[in-house]
Amino acid sequence: MMQLHRANNVADLRRIASRRLPRPIFDYIDGGADDEVSLRRNVDAFARYDLIPDVLNDVSAIRTETRIFGQASRWPLMLSPTGLTRMFHGHAELAVARAAAKHGLIYSLSTMGTTRLEDLAQAFAGPKVFQIYIFKDRGLTAEFVARCKDAGFDGLALTVDTPVAGNRERDRVSGFSLPPKLTLTSLLSFARHPAWSLPALTGAKFSLANVSHKVDLLASGPMSLFDYIGAQFDRSVSWRDVEWLASQWNGPLAIKGVMTPEDARRSVASGATGVMVSNHGGRQLDGAPAPIDQIEAVRAAVGDAPDVICDGGIRRGSDVVKALALGATACSIGRPYLYGLAAGGEAGVDRVLSMLGDEFQRTLALAGVNDVAALSRRHVRKSEGWR
Ligand SMILES: Cc1cc2nc3c(=O)[nH]c(=O)nc-3n(C[C@H](O)[C@H](O)[C@H](O)COP(=O)(O)O)c2cc1C
Repeated sequence: MMQLHRANNVADLRRIASRRLPRPIFDYIDGGADDEVSLRRNVDAFARYDLIPDVLNDVSAIRTETRIFGQASRWPLMLSPTGLTRMFHGHAELAVARAAAKHGLIYSLSTMGTTRLEDLAQAFAGPKVFQIYIFKDRGLTAEFVARCKDAGFDGLALTVDTPVAGNRERDRVSGFSLPPKLTLTSLLSFARHPAWSLPALTGAKFSLANVSHKVDLLASGPMSLFDYIGAQFDRSVSWRDVEWLASQWNGPLAIKGVMTPEDARRSVASGATGVMVSNHGGRQLDGAPAPIDQIEAVRAAVGDAPDVICDGGIRRGSDVVKALALGATACSIGRPYLYGLAAGGEAGVDRVLSMLGDEFQRTLALAGVNDVAALSRRHVRKSEGWR
């Protein structure tokens, strides 16, 4: 707790998480695909934009509320879906959702989550989105749609950047698998982190709670996530499937993993109400551009109405201001809240959301903007002389 208190920013929480977690688990959160070019680029790209302030504007009250997936959000940030959450802290998804609700933000639950969507919905009244895949078994996808309707989810995010698993080399080196494989090195790392390992051994059983009735991963013996994804994910998914999903769901639907203006337009034409501009946090196609660099073109392609969410690389509240000025409706974060969760459970997620929210408010005040709706293209400029 002392440590949490001393964290000033996302980078500090990342350091605390790296000390708390066994190496293979930390690397699973922190790593990206191949040479991690996109992972680094996602973050670095924000530094290439200058913020251009207005002065002598009354900023004694700043309006930050917005709507995402048709739901009210206290400020333009949401929490991206992340799988395997119980592995990072025993409090798992419920802790993240509770912290999101406290901050008035939308939470998204992953298909690969470790809490059943019905259990999450029962424990948590806040706005929530379910991240869905189109599986080989379309019946499983249709079943998720029905379950999400019954449970009262507000929106769906269809992830489309995973026709095959990305090449996460850190996971290969560390032997990360499901359940965690005990090589000599990983055993030493687990033994050196009893604060993580003991609750993990004695706490609630780890399972991919939403799909385990179909794919009993743990019962079928050690099987890596790569094998699982390889077996369930469908390389033949196409726009026709998006139309099918949109008609089944008939509610707010964002396509997650869209990168180009053309695909953004096609998403909307296929029935989506928004896009999450994302390269999966640099975990899939290495070399993909940074989401922030695509926002302006995507917004121009789809017009004003659809949600355009900038997902990935956000480490400061000022990054959100830049994305909004370029045309985003909101931003979305993965690792930042996972670092917080690993560092201190619900209190850690609360801490990271407070820090980012304060940074966002402070940046708006310093930029002389008293209403998020007033942020516009003239508040941001690509830095000159950037190499
Ligand atoms: C540990 C981890 C697990 C993730 N699991 C999923 C998932 O199950 N489904 C999904 O669509 N995206 C998943 N993502 C990607 C996030 O939703 C999001 O796109 C990404 O984390 C954004 O980049 P950021 O970490 O820089 O914020 C995962 C990301 C991380 C770090």
